[in-house]
Amino acid sequence: IAAAGAVYYLFGATGDLARRKLFPALFSLYKEGKLAEDFAVVGLARRPRTNEQFRQDLYESIVEFSRNKADDKQLWDKFAEHFEYMSLDINNVDGFRELGNLTERLDAKFNIPGNRLFYLALAPDLFGPVSFNLRDGGLLESKGWHRLVIEKPFGYDLPSAQKLNEQLCQVFKEEEIFRIDHYLGKEMVQNIEVIRFANAFFEPLWNNKHIANVQITLSETVGVEERGGYYDKSGALRDMVQNHMLQMLAMIAMEPPSRLHPEDIRDEKVKALRSLRPYTTSEEIDANVVRGQYSEGMLKSKPLTGYRQEESVNSESVTETYFAARVFVDNFRWAGVPFYIRTGKRLPVKTTEVVIEFKNVPDNVLFARRHDLSPNLLVIRVHPMEGIYIKINAKKPGENNVVQPVSMEFCQSCMIGLNTPEAYERLIYDATRGESTYFTRWDEVAQAWSFVDRIADAWREGSDNLQFYPAGSWGPEKTDELLASDGFHWWPVN
Ligand code: BG6
Repeated sequence: IAAAGAVYYLFGATGDLARRKLFPALFSLYKEGKLAEDFAVVGLARRPRTNEQFRQDLYESIVEFSRNKADDKQLWDKFAEHFEYMSLDINNVDGFRELGNLTERLDAKFNIPGNRLFYLALAPDLFGPVSFNLRDGGLLESKGWHRLVIEKPFGYDLPSAQKLNEQLCQVFKEEEIFRIDHYLGKEMVQNIEVIRFANAFFEPLWNNKHIANVQITLSETVGVEERGGYYDKSGALRDMVQNHMLQMLAMIAMEPPSRLHPEDIRDEKVKALRSLRPYTTSEEIDANVVRGQYSEGMLKSKPLTGYRQEESVNSESVTETYFAARVFVDNFRWAGVPFYIRTGKRLPVKTTEVVIEFKNVPDNVLFARRHDLSPNLLVIRVHPMEGIYIKINAKKPGENNVVQPVSMEFCQSCMIGLNTPEAYERLIYDATRGESTYFTRWDEVAQAWSFVDRIADAWREGSDNLQFYPAGSWGPEKTDELLASDGFHWWPVN
């Protein structure tokens, strides 16, 4: 079904996100019929650019990054015609009035019914000023819907996020605000709900009676690349944990919603986040949290510099590029089950994976004592491979009473190839349909910040807990100890 016709305003149209993700996503949506002809995209940024130059940028981005080829000249010309560029000083309301005039022309040209989607691929301190000028410049007066899509980071801590949210709420209603967490757009993250709630294999076992622990790994091989300036002020806790990791954890831990309605699902996620046991004292942090930074090392025989030598990074920086923790969800379902989470840059492989480790069958005389059996695992592979596999115990062929672990795999990306819709395609399409399930609601953001802030505050008070790990390794050794002290270990990622 094609999305409702709308004008898309792309603030930050000359930036990296537009080039790598947003243009290719719009093109794929168009090519697959999810965008009909009744749409227009206005690229907005400060620098002057003609429509022709802008369409050339668009073309280059699609050649480089799109999963769909722009090889049909006729189709391409028709698509590109929907794109216009306007240079805009976002602090000057007159520019917004001019944008209003351009919009009227586009509405008439493409027969657009007044719907507006404002996509802010901008630094968050500009979200407020842009929203005020959208209102004051008259852009919210059309008869259709008005939606604001914003990128992370949503604040730096809870107070700054609150301030930001108050500004947005002066102009937009909560249901008009679509906060992107691109992990929620990933196919296998969306699949967690189905795997959990549509399988008699798993649903009855999804609790502390049957699950021993949960492991969430989100590892990256990249360093901070050109983003040293941003990253050094942020670090892994704010950059990855506050959003992507806690969102995945919430999807694993939440109670079944009463309906598959966005608000019901998000209500359950908030409850799960609210149940996170807060870590406040430095003793609790020391016992449960690992904070690391990469030093010089090697990856695939390539020497790599340490974090402190990276461009735009303070040479004495104590920012973490690695974070691991043992987290507890203190409610009836999860009491006593550790959730081990880890994320870091410059680790040996790029992967996102969730492992559910089940408790073993009771000790029995039939095959083995409990500790000799391998536990059953359910592994949800999010990226780059997409799929699930389960590890079960079976008889070793040809041997009597010898049990061995075997695995059964569903590899989604092998079956339909890696050419599945990208996260941004799904999310943009959802935003145009007003489908907000996979966007984060304000109370989720606030709850995640309050968990993260406590850790950040404790770090600020005692800053000697940073551990160094060589680039290309699996992070500080203390991460293994977190699990070993509970009698577990990290399952190797695939
Ligand atoms: C972003 C972080 O949100 O997610 C980056 O700011 C990180 O630091 C990126 O590299 C990872 O996303 P993906 O989809 O490549 O796993």
